[in-house]
Amino acid sequence: MREIGVGLLGLGNVGAGVVNILRSHAREIEARLGAQVVVRRVAIRDQDKPRAASVDRALLTTSIEQVLDDPQVAIVVEVMGGVDLAARWVLAALDRGKHVVTANKALLAERGDEVFAKARARGVDVYYEAAVCGGLPILRTIREALAADRISAIYGIVNGTTNFILTRMTEERAPFSEALAAAQAVGYAEADPSLDIGGGDAAQKLCILAALAFGTRVHPADVFTEGIGAIEPIDLAQAREFGYCVKLLATAKRVGEGVETHVCPVLLPLANPLASVRGPYNAVLLVADALGPALFQGQGAGGAPTGSAVVGDIIDCSRNIVAGAAGRVPMPYEPNLKEVAKLPMSESLFPYYLRVMVDDRPGVLARICGVLGERGISIGAVTQKERGGVGQGPVPVTIVTHEAREGDVQTALSSIEALPSTRGKVRLLRIENRLPMA
Ligand code: HSE
Repeated sequence: MREIGVGLLGLGNVGAGVVNILRSHAREIEARLGAQVVVRRVAIRDQDKPRAASVDRALLTTSIEQVLDDPQVAIVVEVMGGVDLAARWVLAALDRGKHVVTANKALLAERGDEVFAKARARGVDVYYEAAVCGGLPILRTIREALAADRISAIYGIVNGTTNFILTRMTEERAPFSEALAAAQAVGYAEADPSLDIGGGDAAQKLCILAALAFGTRVHPADVFTEGIGAIEPIDLAQAREFGYCVKLLATAKRVGEGVETHVCPVLLPLANPLASVRGPYNAVLLVADALGPALFQGQGAGGAPTGSAVVGDIIDCSRNIVAGAAGRVPMPYEPNLKEVAKLPMSESLFPYYLRVMVDDRPGVLARICGVLGERGISIGAVTQKERGGVGQGPVPVTIVTHEAREGDVQTALSSIEALPSTRGKVRLLRIENRLPMA
């Protein structure tokens, strides 16, 4: 039987998942591919580090060049992470005529243009399903299953760590730090968890989704990004009282001729299916002209789910090798991408949740409402919680507005924060109540 040689760059969580799946599903893979996938070389940094997969020591090397120069390696699988070093080796692999499978969203979001252009110039394939939502096959769905359709919006819970944290904070009333520690203990978080918490990881994934869905390049710097670090248990509880949960939502949608992209915590109606995506699960709700709304849900992190997507890509890539058909699946490289206007966040429209900590004195609420009124921001609901009595320290006033322009709301917040009765920053959360499938 024909053999397809694979070289791995990295043997961490995902690399180990790849090795284990190739071994445990070898029979099915052979039957589906009509060829054997054989791991020829594995580049690692530390020979003695304990691994979650057992690999013949003779295959291990600390030299990435040895992997790239091995004539038996047809597909280089990059599961080392990082941007610049990964770019260097991926570009070197493509230069040597190797196909590449990568799980690296940061690499593609930051330097995808170079990678895809090089692959095109060398006539080889780059597959990257695992870069977005781990094991959830959302990229293949957009690129191939929906090739006939026109996507107008993507709403995603695309970061497992933050979804896990928000779920813990909501359901177990755990403080943020404890929920983060639990996410790290089970291995969901990035090496630098600020990428998860700050929304950067989700923004990188959104760039790849938007490029495929809208045929336009979106750079992480184009995406308005706000993380979950400032969310407090009181906001989760208040949101629930208004009939919402809080999710870190990555959104890309067409607005007129432009595209609006943002990653931020939003209040989602409890009746929307995205509200019941709990723990480390990821989900993408997309809206397409012909298909209508469709929801995809699955595990977006972890060695086995992500390894499953990587091995799926290895098989797809191998099928192309067997058929002599590299380049069959188009890549979002430069000539295929149109420049489309990226709309500024200040023009976005949302209803808003605002929590203001105030001194409990007569006239305070009237002044806050007055500031909002002057900016044309209409109020839908207001609650104030009792805490002690008059003169007993600040109390939370929570306001839900009707739809308003982000720029107007931000200006109003500055004025509210400048009032002598306001204590600290106003907590602003956007409300996303226009999603389909609610
Ligand atoms: N750290 C990511 C997450 C996993 O929490 O979803 C890989 O993208």
